[in-house]
Amino acid sequence: MLLEKMLQSQGFGSRKHCQQLIKNGLVTIHGEIMDNPKTKLDLNGLEYTVHGHRYQYREKVYIALNKPQGYECSHQATHHFSVFDLFDDVLLNRNIQCVGRLDQDTTGLLLLTDDGQFLQALTHPKKHVAKVYQMDLADAVTDEQIQQLTKGVELRNEDGVFAATDVQRLDTHTLHMTIHQGVYHQVKRMLAAVGNKVERLHRAQIGTLQLNDLAEGEWIFLNEAQITQAKFRSTDA
Ligand code: URA
Repeated sequence: MLLEKMLQSQGFGSRKHCQQLIKNGLVTIHGEIMDNPKTKLDLNGLEYTVHGHRYQYREKVYIALNKPQGYECSHQATHHFSVFDLFDDVLLNRNIQCVGRLDQDTTGLLLLTDDGQFLQALTHPKKHVAKVYQMDLADAVTDEQIQQLTKGVELRNEDGVFAATDVQRLDTHTLHMTIHQGVYHQVKRMLAAVGNKVERLHRAQIGTLQLNDLAEGEWIFLNEAQITQAKFRSTDA
């Protein structure tokens, strides 16, 4: 691929702008200034710098973010910050999207990508990717509530029954559970359906992907193995 095209594909702006960056001596590979926009590149393991910042060529990007409270998953957030405020223009130019949504007051694992197929694969209603949540509740969790959640509850305006697996009481008011669909406000509605109320919600895991020690507001690029795991831990209905 030509250098100018590679930079454009990575989110550095229009072809013209990328040509300008190159001609102005702002792009290096292996410490060497690359001033010819038409230089042909081997993309395999390619690393380069622009304005002194190091980058790695990525055909597509897959990001795991520990979403803080008070951030919406929409581009035009109205009453809160947007999760997209946490990324620089180079990534935003790639048109990254959230893989599913978390409410503004929910914290935890959120995936973002510019790979439309990956996004489809993880969010298609017929895929049942396990999502693990931990929550604080207004009232003490009862055995009956745990049984109801495990058996399944009906949600207004949704078809079918919504059941959780691995429902565990961690404390009188703290619950851990896994869901396998992703309808609007699902966890909060499931808990309301059994007569409780979610006061704080945190997503700890999607498929086999965990937050590990990512601090709130921090994000990382997922590696090949993690992307493959995320894709194939979803199963057809
Ligand atoms: N369920 C909810 O109710 N809210 C979320 O943010 C995620 C799942």
